[in-house]
Amino acid sequence: MQINKAIFPVAGLGTRFLPATKAQPKEMLPVVDKPLIQYAVEEAYAAGIREMIFVTGRHKRPIEDHFDMSFELEVGLEQAGKQELLEVVRSVKPDDMECIYVRQAQALGLGHAVLCGQRLVGNEPFAVLLADDLMVGPQGQPVLKQMVEQFREWRVSILAVQEVPAEHTRRYGIVAGAPVSDKLVDVQRIVEKPAPDVAPSRLGVAGRYILTPGVFHEIASQPRGVGGEIQLTDGIAGLLRREKVFAYRYEGKRYDCGSKEGFLQANVELALAHPELGPGFREYLQSLPI
Ligand code: UTP
Repeated sequence: MQINKAIFPVAGLGTRFLPATKAQPKEMLPVVDKPLIQYAVEEAYAAGIREMIFVTGRHKRPIEDHFDMSFELEVGLEQAGKQELLEVVRSVKPDDMECIYVRQAQALGLGHAVLCGQRLVGNEPFAVLLADDLMVGPQGQPVLKQMVEQFREWRVSILAVQEVPAEHTRRYGIVAGAPVSDKLVDVQRIVEKPAPDVAPSRLGVAGRYILTPGVFHEIASQPRGVGGEIQLTDGIAGLLRREKVFAYRYEGKRYDCGSKEGFLQANVELALAHPELGPGFREYLQSLPI
């Protein structure tokens, strides 16, 4: 079974990043030279997904424009003979990729945002990517691709997880269950943002999911959860009662770009790894009196 569709919830308020997010979605913040949302879309594309569903909110224009053709820009670059830049601009949306937009009128929570994609997804398994989690997998093995491979083998919902420090459990959905292998856990419980003393484990869910369509019904039947929001975690907890859900310890590194600290770390590390910028930037950092 193939995963053809991905939902990108991009309708959150991004309050932790104000004032940068006052008039633009946080998913348009650039890390080095690309907006966060483009990293996530490229990750989905590399996992074989071609139908990208964006759940947008009040500042939808910059995202739509980014994945649209920019006619004047392309003509200008072509006339100036700037072929390389033209390729960069065109590669943002490959021809075989489709972008669809649906609006979440009110930011009622991540679960509600995913539910807004229900009609477009229909009755097939799908991926969810939170662009503010920037995931860097090993060469040729982006995190969502690893998860699609697991899905092909097991045919169950797959949640990306990582070990988190005990004092950070309040930032995550936390899962617990029985180990299937060194990388997979058969999830028996999932709790949204528990305090460290009641967290069932230290396995925190990162912003990558492969879900079966049964989750829509479960989200729709949940009351509001933590923070008065309709939580995706509660929908997954409902799904657990009917279907198997596996947690997958992904290979790679996650940057929490929804926080200023994680965003700065991503910029520094990706700049250091950048083929053109890296060497000069390293020298610059080494020259700083720190
Ligand atoms: P966050 O929990 O990071 O919330 O959402 P937020 O509102 O974007 O940011 P802060 O906490 O106020 O700074 C996780 C993801 O879910 C999306 C966000 O856009 C983000 O990608 N989201 C969240 C929605 O699309 N709709 C919602 O109602 C809530």
